[in-house]
Formats: sequence, structure tokens, C-alpha cells
Amino acid sequence: MARKIIIDTDPGQDDAVAILLALASPELEVLGITCVAGNVPLALTVRNARIICELAGRPDARIFAGCDKPLERALVTAEYVHGKTGLDGIALPDPVMPVQDQHAVDFIVETLRREPAGSVTLVPIGPLTNIAAAILKAPDITDRIAEIVLMGGAYFEVGNVTPAAEFNIYVDPQAADIVFRAGVRLTVMPLDVTHKALTTRTRIEAFRALPGRVGPAVASWTDFFERFDMEKYGSEGAPLHDPCTIAYLLEPSLFSGRQVNVMVETGSDLTLGMTVADWWGVTDRKPNAWFVGDLDADRFYALLTDRLARLP
Ligand code: BDR
Ligand code: CA
Repeated sequence: MARKIIIDTDPGQDDAVAILLALASPELEVLGITCVAGNVPLALTVRNARIICELAGRPDARIFAGCDKPLERALVTAEYVHGKTGLDGIALPDPVMPVQDQHAVDFIVETLRREPAGSVTLVPIGPLTNIAAAILKAPDITDRIAEIVLMGGAYFEVGNVTPAAEFNIYVDPQAADIVFRAGVRLTVMPLDVTHKALTTRTRIEAFRALPGRVGPAVASWTDFFERFDMEKYGSEGAPLHDPCTIAYLLEPSLFSGRQVNVMVETGSDLTLGMTVADWWGVTDRKPNAWFVGDLDADRFYALLTDRLARLP
């Protein structure tokens, strides 16, 4: 039976690849795609999610608009990485598929209450505002979530948006704090692993060579997206952060990590949004997350390319 997931997202080119990977994979049933403000404002993340689903030939997917700003702070966006639309790199048709009327937070709560306890996995790949808002509104759902598999944070890589913080956690540290304290089974894909999931020329050309429209679109996105990290880090390509979550659900043996305690800094201006991971076990704080540190990048890209080939 397919594993039921809700993808909570702020697309973003790497979010787009994560969504496509999920839609291409029969092992996963995407119950809904809930959008949040992050890389770009909410109106654009919702629009981008619709563009992605139509590209995948899935206008039947259910897309929900969620929170348009973090719980307590003003929104910080990342057009300097993702472009003005959030999905720069290729011009795609204006979407026509509908957005659901229900608020994303209500959809998350209702779905978790309706489906059997322990059967729905949440996959947040943007700021954690919608997930935390759902937990605040309906604390009973925490017992019903099978697992949260999220992209966010960093320990050895420290930060990408400030010297101390990764973007998704930095944008809404109060929300992240709620999620990390929720007592839910948690798998975390921090920069430590996503910075090893790098595009290369060969990997991008393999996307471009796929038959159909999806492979070339992904190649155009990654072409656009990689310039930022290549200039910043001098790396060979760009990290496909968000698809690590979906790849983990499909093939956990690609990843290795440790069960550790992770806490989120919410007070300090200097280190706001830092994920303090007790990787070396130097405290007696109880482990609350499986914090991933490494992946087999060749197998990851092989899986991704193989699955994208199944889309139109
Ligand atoms: C995360 O921030 C966003 O820009 C990406 O989509 C990813 O979710 C990486 O720090
Ligand atoms: Ca994202």
C-alpha cells in the first residue's frame, strides 16, 4: 500500500523537483500539497505549486494555501536564489487548475484526524509555519502523525542565510521550535547532507535528455538555480535540498545519520534559527530527531532521473 504523505512547500526549484519526484513514485500517495510563504510570498508559492502539478500532468492534485507569514516574525524571502517568480529558469504556461477552498492548516488537521492514526507522514520542505500552526490549533494531531520528514537546519554546515542558520528554520524559528519539541518521530535533512546532493553537468544533462517535457524543465531550473551556490561556495553544482526528503521515503538506505537531540535558537539575534544538534552526545538531552549527515549522491541522482523519466 502506498505511503500517505502531505507535502508542505514554498516552491522553489528544488521544491519543484521534490514534488515531481513524489508524483512520479507509486510508493507514495500525495494527499495534498500545502503551500506556505518562504522562498517567495504565498501567492507565488501557490501559483508555482499549480504550475508544477500541471507540468507533471496532475491537475487533479489537491493544492491548499496556508500561512502567508511566520508565526511571530516578518517574512524573509529568497528571490536572490530562486528568482523573482521563485521558479525562474523556464517560462511555463499560466496554471488553470484550482486551489482548494480550505486553509492548508485546516486540511492538515482534518486529514490527520480522519485518516488512521500513524498513517500520514508530513513532508515539510519550507518554513515550518503551517505545521506549527496545525499543532497549536489541534495538539491532538501530534499522536496521529506517522513521521515528519523535513528539510531544514544544519550542524556542520552551520548556515546558508546567516552565518548560523539555514533558510527554512531561520524564516520561522518559533514554528521550528514547536515542531522539534512536539514529540513526533522526526527525520531531518539538514544542509550537512543536502550540500552533498550536488548537481553536476552530467547529472543535469541526464535530466535534459529525458523524453517528454519534465526532464528538460528540471534541467532548466537546475541550470538557473546552480549559479547561486557555485558563486557562493565555489562548488561544482547546486544542492537539490528538498528532494532528499522524498528520496529518503523511497530509499532510506541512501542516507546515513544519527539519532540526536536538536534544539532551535529562538532568542539570540546573532544565532537566530540555529539548529543546535548534539551530534557528539555531549549533553543528556533526550534525542528527538534522526539527523542525516550523508548520502550516496550517485544513487540519489540515479533514482531521481529514473523517476522523472516516468512523467510526461
Ligand atoms: C531551503 O531553503 C530554500 O531556499 C530551499 O527550497 C530549501 O528548502 C534550503 O536552505
Ligand atoms: Ca523549499
